[in-house]
Amino acid sequence: MNASPVIVALDFPDRESAMALVDRLHPSLCRLKVGKELFTRLGPAFVEKLVATGYDVFLDLKFHDIPNTVAAACDAAADLGVWMMNLHASGGRKMMDTACARLAGRAHQPKLIAVTILTSLGEKDIREIGFQGTPEENVLHLAALAQSSGLDGVVCSPLEAAALRARAGDDFLLVTPGVRPATAALDDQKRVMTPADAMQAGASYLVIGRPVTAAQDPLQALKDINASLQV
Ligand code: C5P
Repeated sequence: MNASPVIVALDFPDRESAMALVDRLHPSLCRLKVGKELFTRLGPAFVEKLVATGYDVFLDLKFHDIPNTVAAACDAAADLGVWMMNLHASGGRKMMDTACARLAGRAHQPKLIAVTILTSLGEKDIREIGFQGTPEENVLHLAALAQSSGLDGVVCSPLEAAALRARAGDDFLLVTPGVRPATAALDDQKRVMTPADAMQAGASYLVIGRPVTAAQDPLQALKDINASLQV
């Protein structure tokens, strides 16, 4: 078991560069996130390899479809041995309920979390889609829907973490990207928090990519982040 809340985002285009990083880290120091690019290129066998190496894997495929299809996809992801997976809360209560029920019947039960409103969407964008209210109001609404549908948590901006933590209580997982050590480049992230501030705001896990993956010494960068969190 691993005390670090850091989930390193494996945003690489190919197996060689992904494995070069994975081999420099250690399952006792972080978890790993596999997203759509790597999964589409390398497939389930790559995820199984990471799991077999001892890593907790967050499979970030953001399922969104009819309830039966999403539940079947969650079941398939669980078969890979992943630790966590996600779906879009806007798929609705029935989709989330059905997925939870399918996972609840398994011996190995991965955590299931929801994406609420993508942080790439601003007020104008969500109005164009047809949502009423501000992105923040929709985030809170969809997070409450995810929680009452039995999900384990949500992905959220660290800037939303305090408000969500206050509403959702202690047991709901808040998984936050948009995290940067004070000394790291912002890259294309605009509104960020340091790892310690994000944890202080109520985050449960931190998704961190380039501050580790693009560091000259990724293992040291990860150890420095863990040290800043006293883990
Ligand atoms: O390199 P960086 O730390 O910015 O990587 C963050 C990871 O979290 C990437 O995989 C990115 O796709 C993901 N993410 C994000 N912001 C969101 C949702 C996901 O940065 N709102």
